[in-house]
Amino acid sequence: MKTINVDLTGIGMDITPAFSDGAAALTTLKEGTGPGSDFLGWLTLPQAITESEIDRIKEVASDLSQGVEIVVVIGIGGSYLGAKAVIEALSHSFETLLPRRAHPLVVFAGQNMSEDYLSELLAVMQGRSCACVVISKSGTTTEPALAFRIIQKHIKEKYGCKEAQRRIVAITDAHRGALKRLADQEGYKTFVIPDNVGGRFSVLTPVGLLPMAIAGVAIETLLSGAREGMPTCLAPSIENPALQYALARNALYQQGKSIELLANFHPKLHYLTEWWKQLYGESEGKEGRGIFPAGVDFTTDLHSLGQYIQEGPRFLMETVLSVAEPETEQCLTVESDPQDLDGLNYLSGKRVDYCNKMAELGTRMAHIAGGVPNIRIEIPRLDACSVGALLYFFEVACGISAYMLDVNPFDQPGVEAYKKNMFKLLGR
Ligand code: PA5
Repeated sequence: MKTINVDLTGIGMDITPAFSDGAAALTTLKEGTGPGSDFLGWLTLPQAITESEIDRIKEVASDLSQGVEIVVVIGIGGSYLGAKAVIEALSHSFETLLPRRAHPLVVFAGQNMSEDYLSELLAVMQGRSCACVVISKSGTTTEPALAFRIIQKHIKEKYGCKEAQRRIVAITDAHRGALKRLADQEGYKTFVIPDNVGGRFSVLTPVGLLPMAIAGVAIETLLSGAREGMPTCLAPSIENPALQYALARNALYQQGKSIELLANFHPKLHYLTEWWKQLYGESEGKEGRGIFPAGVDFTTDLHSLGQYIQEGPRFLMETVLSVAEPETEQCLTVESDPQDLDGLNYLSGKRVDYCNKMAELGTRMAHIAGGVPNIRIEIPRLDACSVGALLYFFEVACGISAYMLDVNPFDQPGVEAYKKNMFKLLGR
């Protein structure tokens, strides 16, 4: 099976007439001739990362984890979502309840400015051995800077400045920013975010890989999945899944489908959807153009948003992210019950995953019939290799899509507006 399979039978149109536009956008991306071409380092990252870089990430992860129960990863946007998405996708659903854990618990901060969140975090850090990874490419983002000031103080007071140097790692720009200056002065270990990789495309740099390695993710396998996906995702062919996805969503957008729902049927994919929302929202939504990316967790949200999707205004398209095989070794089937009080004996002998798949198929059929065109993206499993391939696939498709819309995928000028007001109100 191909790692990523895109099924376009549910979009109700032929994408081949737009192939040349998509192929041109792919060429622009590969040749670096479009706007924002200083930020194309992510295109080759899976191949360019060296063994010694991977070894250093693993060494620092292991050193930081020695005797540590909680690692607080501080960052926002692209300095947060990739790691969170992959760790959630590849971890046990009830990780925090496992009796014996092989790795520290990775928790996140700096992705909000809630005082309750931070004080509750400090409270759980009190009696536990902790460490911290602080991530900011600019080194000046307010939310993570605020969280780090508080967490750093806690760690320094608890362990002293010398031990804090072992327990704090900074990931930031090679030369610029307050975090770079602070890390150098305090003597913290640092990793560099390459100049040519923007925040939301940085999941396969230390930004994503260090927190993942701390959480026990097999980062080499993740990278190998991304690497294996490269030739297919960069091929100027109608068989290229990234090109197919970009062409389909753009064709639907031209028909007035201005909102894309990314739907999953696995709770572990919730944060992958959050990562995707940032990737597409921040890359495409500018100059009055762009598909609004929204996420739904099914079947959960079928009992809240299902009505709107089925019968509300028809500006929705839906992309279902499907996983072919469950990871569990335990085959969970519905057993026959002599009394059948719940009326479920018709499912006797069926796996729970089969029921979930039928819910997926039934949902797709209903939504297509209700006027919500459907793209289906299938990965073989929810493992490191497939997730690595999926990340790379979404990144390439995003670059193609944005160039098809004629916007710069790699800037985010609109994010400054709220900051300007906030700084004024805060008296900066
Ligand atoms: O994609 C982006 O560039 C942004 O979402 C950033 O990742 C986010 O704003 C955080 O920025 P920084 O890493 O500079 O703190």
